Amino acid sequence: MPRAMATSPWLLLLCVAAGVVLQARAQPDSKGFISIDCGLSGETGYVDDTTKLFFLPDKGFIDAGTNHNISAEYVTPTMGKSWYNLRSFAGAGAGTRNCYTLRSLVSGLKYIVRAKFKYGNYDGLDLLPVFDLYIGVNYWHPVNISGPSAAMFVEAIVVVPDDFVQVCLVDTGAGTPFISGLDLRPLKRTLYPEVTVAQGLTLMNRLNLGQTNESFIVRYPDDPHDRLWFPYVDTVTWAEISTPQKVETIDTDRYEAPSAVLRTAVMPRNVSGDIELTWPSEPTPMDPSPGYVIILHFAELEVLRRNALRELTIVLNDQPWYPFGIKPAYLYDIPAYKGSPFRYTQFNLSVKTTSNATLPPIINAAEIFTVFPTTNLGTNSQDVSAITAIKAKYHVSKNWMGDPCAPKAMVWDRLTCSYGAIGSRPRITSLNLSSSGLIGDISSSFVNLTAIQYLDLSNNNLIGSIPDALSQLPLLTVLDLSGNQLNGSIPSGLHKRIQDGSLDLRYGNNPNLCTDGNSCQPHAKKKSKLALYVVVPAVLLVVIVSVTILLICLLKQNKHGSMDNSIIPKNETIMSNSTVNNASSNSSLRRLESRRFTYKELEMITNNFQQVLGKGGFGYVYNGFLEDGTQVAVKLRSHSSNQGVKEFLAEAQILTRIHHMNLVSMIGYCKDGEYMALVYEYMSEGTLQEHIEGTNRNGACLPWTHRLRIALESAQGLEYLHKGCNPPLIHRDVKATNILLNARLEARIADFGLSKAFNSNDTHVSTNTLVGTPGYVDPEYQMTMQPTAKSDVYSFGVVLLELVTGKPAILRVPVPVNIIQWARQRLAQGNIEAVVDTRMHGHYDVNTVWKVANIALKCTAQSSVQRPNMTDVVAQLRECIELENGCSRDDANNGIYTGTRGNDPNMSYDSYTSDQSTNSEPFG
Ligand SMILES: *[C@@H]1O[C@H](CO)[C@@H](O)[C@H](O)[C@H]1NC(C)=O
Ligand SMILES: *[C@@H]1O[C@H](CO)[C@@H](O)[C@H](O)[C@H]1NC(C)=O
Ligand SMILES: *[C@@H]1O[C@H](CO)[C@@H](O)[C@H](O)[C@H]1NC(C)=O
Ligand SMILES: *[C@@H]1O[C@H](CO)[C@@H](O)[C@H](O)[C@H]1NC(C)=O
Ligand SMILES: *[C@@H]1O[C@H](CO)[C@@H](O)[C@H](O)[C@H]1NC(C)=O
Ligand SMILES: *[C@@H]1O[C@H](CO)[C@@H](O)[C@H](O)[C@H]1NC(C)=O
Ligand SMILES: *[C@@H]1O[C@H](CO)[C@@H](O)[C@H](O)[C@H]1NC(C)=O
Repeated sequence: MPRAMATSPWLLLLCVAAGVVLQARAQPDSKGFISIDCGLSGETGYVDDTTKLFFLPDKGFIDAGTNHNISAEYVTPTMGKSWYNLRSFAGAGAGTRNCYTLRSLVSGLKYIVRAKFKYGNYDGLDLLPVFDLYIGVNYWHPVNISGPSAAMFVEAIVVVPDDFVQVCLVDTGAGTPFISGLDLRPLKRTLYPEVTVAQGLTLMNRLNLGQTNESFIVRYPDDPHDRLWFPYVDTVTWAEISTPQKVETIDTDRYEAPSAVLRTAVMPRNVSGDIELTWPSEPTPMDPSPGYVIILHFAELEVLRRNALRELTIVLNDQPWYPFGIKPAYLYDIPAYKGSPFRYTQFNLSVKTTSNATLPPIINAAEIFTVFPTTNLGTNSQDVSAITAIKAKYHVSKNWMGDPCAPKAMVWDRLTCSYGAIGSRPRITSLNLSSSGLIGDISSSFVNLTAIQYLDLSNNNLIGSIPDALSQLPLLTVLDLSGNQLNGSIPSGLHKRIQDGSLDLRYGNNPNLCTDGNSCQPHAKKKSKLALYVVVPAVLLVVIVSVTILLICLLKQNKHGSMDNSIIPKNETIMSNSTVNNASSNSSLRRLESRRFTYKELEMITNNFQQVLGKGGFGYVYNGFLEDGTQVAVKLRSHSSNQGVKEFLAEAQILTRIHHMNLVSMIGYCKDGEYMALVYEYMSEGTLQEHIEGTNRNGACLPWTHRLRIALESAQGLEYLHKGCNPPLIHRDVKATNILLNARLEARIADFGLSKAFNSNDTHVSTNTLVGTPGYVDPEYQMTMQPTAKSDVYSFGVVLLELVTGKPAILRVPVPVNIIQWARQRLAQGNIEAVVDTRMHGHYDVNTVWKVANIALKCTAQSSVQRPNMTDVVAQLRECIELENGCSRDDANNGIYTGTRGNDPNMSYDSYTSDQSTNSEPFG
């Protein structure tokens, strides 16, 4: 039923001739978009009225073909300007393959490539052509123009292996190829995981279901990737539903259907009926049984009454997709998809309601693609650059279009290539440009054809000297320069190659050349530079020695406290003057509370270090009681500690200066001779980790409301580090074991030993060691070695997932899998139940769980720019709590949680011993 987009007319062409004219450059715009109006004459482009996108003329993208205007009879008032003209490739001069080259791309990135066609009887012949399209060296799709007024497009999503991509039209002898427009849109790497270096997708249909206005095509800017979503509704059998609200995508990284599309949906008018989409397979000459990739989007648009249930299953040709039902989430998209493509001759797709459901099924959007292989590799890129430069320099006018060597059947004239093993790129092995009218000196680009064996430049008008660098071509066995106007002498390198018999150099018939038998004036000293290869390392590894910076988090209220002794002796100062606002405030910044203990006092407090609470990189943490009975935790630096004094002092420095109710607070410190210790408030409920694991004393499960609150409190602590401190701090080891809970289960962030100050102008700090804990480390930090505040956001996202799922950061099920991956997969299938901690026995509001899961996924986006900052996270978690409170759920106070861990403090810090931190610390 969905129309095959590749062969169906656009429903409406909204654009009218636009006004603004700007100077065009053959470059992607700031969004990375390239929009080409093929056949547009002149040098200037224009801004399209509807999309506000800038259309370029095609001059800088292709050097073949001719411009034409479509016949006046096919021009309609609503038609966009880009359809008025086209470029066609007629006649013998055009060659069978003609290519547009789109440059300045990012190698390895995914792109949408859209080629547009409207014949409009431009040539007055009324002959509808059929021809082939290639993306680079891979066959893409046939174009079969269905009528003179049809406006069609073929769209692909591909990984572009180089920093350019070519779109080629290939004449198959069934009419003259032409093209009206060409669009390129970059995609995030994480979108459409079906698209790989080896496989592309061709769009068959992209439906915005439930949109009743048949002229309403959603595209840029509603879809930031400028995909075109076509309205589709079968009003006889379907009812439309819609919402004015924003519909968000849960799985931000896979398909990202825009809200404008998700906001409408259809459901069967017959409450017990199904939603059916059927279409036949469309074989192509290259693939008689194409594989189909189908992506369906579901989002609940109505607030359901209590006890109402919408649950649906997807059945394709009588096979269910998933073993479970999908419950669309309110205002969140759940895309449904299958990993591998379907190969059927007919597709009967039904969306059915499950037996338990009380409401009919819905569907909001669908995308249908076929796959095509992109396994052919283009020629070695240095060869391509070199031969392209040679083509340009000598204005070679042969069939030199597209890739030089691939596909094999289209190799350039006068070129021979080697194809080597599968997975290796073709190389140019011979080039015969004899009698080709070459004028000028010998291009230095020949030296870059490093796999060449045979080079024939004879019988041209080449002048100047022979570059000795040619002797560096390791495989060159024949170099024919005869019949030119070269001068100078045979360079020494080439002489050697001739003498050792590895090169056959032919240089006869160059009257001005000095040869053995033809002595002449020595020219100015040979430019030995030409013979030298200067090797410049591609990457300079700069090891940046990290400088520890004094971390001052100014206390907003308490600036007048004083402390007599700095814990930092002058000679091991870790202060940097620039960060101290004013030297005299040095001591006045100390907090009153930070008491200095002697080692003797610590012995008393801990009853001779009797009871160990935990152990970490610094040494042991002991239980203790102050004179007034206050319970404390004492972290004593062990002499054998592998942790530097510096880190220990860094933590002390931070803790004396920062104060926030969601950061663990330091009561005092000890710097007594060689003894160093930190004294913290006692956090009786231990680590969040133990509560998630259920290894806390009573093994009770944290109710959802507590989890939410802990999430918010920890987020506030981190936000304070990032935003409230000056200079801001990056924690660098955020994890469930570093979130401690007091008797009231209030969360405090602990462990500042690894924290680093960063300059907000600078946004990152450079250090030379990766710190953090497996499962929590920001992949970007791992790559760049530069922690940012967003690295903490990433780790915090993992903690959120642990709170939702009750599972550790790395699951062993049975092979180790990262919780992000694990949750992302299940959430993407809309299966929140498969993710939520079952120990909560359903005592939670599904909407807030979705929301928290969504925040977690955003926090753990691969790329840091996509992650929210902690201020956003705090705001969103607050909303969750409000939502949860507003939910008047009877479950909230129905907690099965009894709270206290009792009087066995041994339990409190046990988990530190199994701490996997690469740089772990026992406490606080
Ligand atoms: C197409 O039409 C435009 C505007 O009417 C005109 O300037 C241009 O010369 C025409 N191009 C061709 C190839 O006829
Ligand atoms: C092009 O389409 C027409 C009509 O759909 C069909 O009859 C014809 O066989 C097609 N041509 C090719 C080469 O696929
Ligand atoms: C349908 O959509 C078109 C294009 O956006 C718009 O111009 C038109 O006003 C819409 N019609 C209705 C009835 O909303
Ligand atoms: C509604 O659908 C059910 C199940 O497909 C069918 O038995 C019934 O006849 C349909 N009712 C109407 C009014 O079409
Ligand atoms: C699809 O549905 C049609 C009509 O209901 C039926 O004839 C055909 O056999 C079905 N095809 C498959 C593959 O299920
Ligand atoms: C319907 O609900 C019952 C009871 O909750 C459950 O056991 C059963 O698995 C559900 N069936 C489906 C198809 O979800
Ligand atoms: C030769 O290749 C190198 C490395 O790819 C490139 O930097 C250089 O510009 C090329 N030289 C010429 C003359 O093409």
